[in-house]
Amino acid sequence: MEMCFFFPESLWLILHAEIRMKSNTEEGETIMKRLFVSALALVASLAIAVSAFAVPAGRKIEFEAKGGPGKVIFDGQVHAGKGLKCSECHPGVFKMKKGADAITMTAINEGKFCGACHNGTRAFSAKDATNCGKCHKK
Ligand code: HEC
Ligand code: HEC
Ligand code: HEC
Repeated sequence: MEMCFFFPESLWLILHAEIRMKSNTEEGETIMKRLFVSALALVASLAIAVSAFAVPAGRKIEFEAKGGPGKVIFDGQVHAGKGLKCSECHPGVFKMKKGADAITMTAINEGKFCGACHNGTRAFSAKDATNCGKCHKK
């Protein structure tokens, strides 16, 4: 998302600098410096964008699970480590916003949300009473 803002600006700066360099060589050096600064800004904005995307993969999302046998921690690192792509969960299974989905155990048991995988085929079953504690922690 960050990239949408920084990319066109940086490209504009580079284009602008090139046009001006052709018409004025004395100013070229200053413009090269500016170009370098804008290139640095581009790299920095890319780094921010990449880390913004990388956060969920290495992040834990906690669900209160009111009335359940303990809170649930979704560990992005564990899931990324199993080779799951973002597109396997977003936007089909989960919205990209914490708390945006009304996740319930009934829905999970119907194969929605976590239950899209935690069905005993792809990953351990959420219905199996011996597995409750794998997600719900006191
Ligand atoms: C794959 C992970 C996972 C497993 C396994 C799991 N749950 Fe859940 N459970 C959740 C999530 C996620 C929520 C919703 C949390 C929230 O939104 O606060 C939830 C919510 C609940 C709730 C809260 C009320 C409701 O209906 O949503 C209850 C009760 C519950 N689980 C019981 C169980 C029991 C009993 C088991 C074992 C048979 C179990 N859960 C196994 C992930 C799991
Ligand atoms: C195994 C499923 C799964 C995978 C794979 C996954 N996510 Fe998520 N993601 C979730 C869940 C669950 C939530 C919380 C949704 C909710 O609370 O309704 C979430 C939330 C998010 C959020 C919102 C965080 C917030 O604080 O609001 C972003 C951004 C996100 N994911 C991006 C990604 C990206 C990028 C990838 C790939 C690197 C990825 N996710 C892979 C399950 C997944
Ligand atoms: C796109 C598929 C997918 C979805 C959706 C998904 N998981 Fe998983 N999950 C996996 C796979 C694959 C594993 C590793 C295999 C296994 O443990 O059975 C795993 C493992 C886990 C583990 C075990 C972690 C460990 O330390 O070994 C927990 C806990 C877990 N998931 C919780 C959740 C919760 C909570 C949700 C919903 C918020 C969820 N998962 C949604 C695929 C998924």
